[in-house]
Amino acid sequence: MKCIWLDADPGHDDATAILLAVHCPNIQLLGVSTVHGNADAQCTESNAARCLYAYGAPQDVRVYPGAIKPLIRPARHDPEIHGVDGLGGVEGLPSPDSDVVLARLGARGQTVRAVEGIAKAILADRSRKITIVSTGPMTNIALFVSVYPDLLDYVEEFVFMGGGVGVGNRSAVAEFNILCDPEAAQIVLDIPVRKVMIPLNVTHTAIMTKPWQHKLLARGATPSDVLPNAATNLRHTLSTLINFFAESYKSTFGFLDGPPLHDALTIAYVCQPDMFSCKRYRVDIELSGAHTSGETVVDIWGYRSCDDSWGAYGKNCLVAQSLEVDRFFTLFLDCVDRCDAV
Ligand code: BDR
Ligand code: CA
Repeated sequence: MKCIWLDADPGHDDATAILLAVHCPNIQLLGVSTVHGNADAQCTESNAARCLYAYGAPQDVRVYPGAIKPLIRPARHDPEIHGVDGLGGVEGLPSPDSDVVLARLGARGQTVRAVEGIAKAILADRSRKITIVSTGPMTNIALFVSVYPDLLDYVEEFVFMGGGVGVGNRSAVAEFNILCDPEAAQIVLDIPVRKVMIPLNVTHTAIMTKPWQHKLLARGATPSDVLPNAATNLRHTLSTLINFFAESYKSTFGFLDGPPLHDALTIAYVCQPDMFSCKRYRVDIELSGAHTSGETVVDIWGYRSCDDSWGAYGKNCLVAQSLEVDRFFTLFLDCVDRCDAV
């Protein structure tokens, strides 16, 4: 069993990552911290709680609100992709002010914030190490590693969705999560912990095409069997999520076959790492380029002389190269089945 902490900015695909984190068989989810990103921090906080409730997560899996803005730069959000509240078009979730959502959050003013939440989770049992997963801007993680450097000994691995190798989605070369807080990302890339980067090059292969969307609505059914009422509440909710995300990706990026489930791949990696092939490189962030700010600079030709460490002078990152796409969607639908059975 792997113990994980998830830091996210839900977000449609973050919501799919939370589903996997709750229902992958060999994962124990310790807590979810939230960060500015796809929407403002208040929305991402309540969206995480709305998802945890909808997925039937154990009551002690709580939401820990984190940074409302990047370390240095002004906050940016992405309503074009995720709607103003971060989960545009998603039906069937409890409202942000409902009791079941508030029950996952601490009382305002007394809340344990993200950085302390991660520390407490680690200190609760020092006989094991945890994996930290990030599916949003890395502000909370940069703060955590700066405030509690001594706790890095208890971090097995840091897995993040972000960046691209020569490709971006919020500029020619910058990916959204990294672009939101590039300084935070560089701080995290320099920590002496094994890191795994799931870049756009790979997440853009995890397209939830129509056949997978039909299977989501009614497992085992062929498209012609799927009646409008064949879906359970959960499947209906997920289907509205995928539909909205698909429309965003179609209108913004011209993806015609379906949306990429970027963030869910981080949890898939933790659950079944052999689904991915990876190569180890030096990765840094461009912090000041006129055209390239926020780019992940991946040294595939080994121009920088690096040591064997995972830290500031080493080949600091395993960069995912490819994914067994069918295996990923099978895992995703297995998790939906398990969730539906709760
Ligand atoms: C990343 O940015 C957000 O839109 C998604 O939630 C994902 O984490 C993809 O670039
Ligand atoms: Ca995200």
